[in-house]
Amino acid sequence: MNTEKKLLTPLITGRLELSNRVVMAPMNRRRALNGVPGDSAALYFGQRAGAGLIITDNTAVAPNGIGYMGTPGIYNRAQIDGWKRVADEVHARGGRIFMQLVHAGRIGHYLNNEGQQPLIAPSAVTAAGLMRTAGEIHLPISEPVEASVADVRRLIDEHIHGAINAIEAGFDGVEIHCAHGFLPEQFLHPHTNRRTDAYGGSIAARSRFLLEIVEGTVAAIGKERTGIRLSPFVKLNDLPDYAEEAETHRYMVDALQEMGILYIHLSDQGPVGHGKIPEAYIRDLRRRYDGLIILAGGCTAETAEMALQAGLADLIAFGKPYIANPDLTERFRLGIPLAAGDPDTYYQGGDGGYTDYPSADLSRGLTFGANTTADCR
Ligand SMILES: Cc1cc2nc3c(=O)[nH]c(=O)nc-3n(C[C@H](O)[C@H](O)[C@H](O)COP(=O)(O)O)c2cc1C
Repeated sequence: MNTEKKLLTPLITGRLELSNRVVMAPMNRRRALNGVPGDSAALYFGQRAGAGLIITDNTAVAPNGIGYMGTPGIYNRAQIDGWKRVADEVHARGGRIFMQLVHAGRIGHYLNNEGQQPLIAPSAVTAAGLMRTAGEIHLPISEPVEASVADVRRLIDEHIHGAINAIEAGFDGVEIHCAHGFLPEQFLHPHTNRRTDAYGGSIAARSRFLLEIVEGTVAAIGKERTGIRLSPFVKLNDLPDYAEEAETHRYMVDALQEMGILYIHLSDQGPVGHGKIPEAYIRDLRRRYDGLIILAGGCTAETAEMALQAGLADLIAFGKPYIANPDLTERFRLGIPLAAGDPDTYYQGGDGGYTDYPSADLSRGLTFGANTTADCR
């Protein structure tokens, strides 16, 4: 058993010091009431503070951007105060925590939005799919209104204010969610962006929304506290393939390199059949971008180690393994097999399936790298 795995060694750069290279991936557990994370959220994240870095649930920057019922927010005082308790708890346990900022755009249902505000999107292109609403009623995703130019500027400002609020709540930084078919990716994608103004048409115009968010965030909180999540070639939330996808991502990455942001977090969905990020893309990203790369999607301790050793990533994010294994890094260190989470409580269930997964009995070490069948890449 090798306890000198790179995965478990600190990551120390001029900008960031993490106790290990394990990241808790963003997971919206949808347990916020009126967008406010409660005491259970502080307990849940505190239990997982052994991760080198925690990234929170996707957290809405505006009342009409929540996407799913129960999503937390970061646009009002009660939400900032709720998140402050989370950040304090993680810091008290020696962890580091970034907030993932989201605006879900055309994904959601207006009945779930504060004040039943309509969904908003680059163009009025309704997404296929159902959305859970109060009383366990699943309704077709509602039709979005097309954002005016003034709306677009407000949406950009809402992201920047979300970042400012996250820092006020004591977070170490933010991750802008430009993955999985939410608003920034809706601007990038020609299927959902049919605009003919400065925010639609060419690659540069479709990228403008995201890049203005990043530029404003960097100016407000600093490039060393700004990360981004991307999911190139992944097809989630009713986005088809498009011809210019690789070129669009290259353009964006070059701009992100110019801005010098802390990290790019790639969300691969290959293991669950929603699109794999080609290794050639990641190697090209490495050449173009000299910040940190986080890789997520189906990783195990062993495949994570292989990706780190191959130089594909600096940090590896784990999602589902963190649900039922609050002490994941210790289990990796001691080779303790992982517990399986209950999918019925991933997105609902109060404290059940949230804060009640125990730590392992750490005296019972087995072999490092149990559960090694999935492909991290
Ligand atoms: C319950 C659950 C909620 C998730 N919520 C988010 C989210 O809020 N933001 C996001 O970018 N990805 C989200 N994801 C995706 C994870 O961050 C991760 O990319 C995915 O689970 C694959 O990693 P894994 O195989 O280690 O679970 C979620 C995944 C799960 C299982």
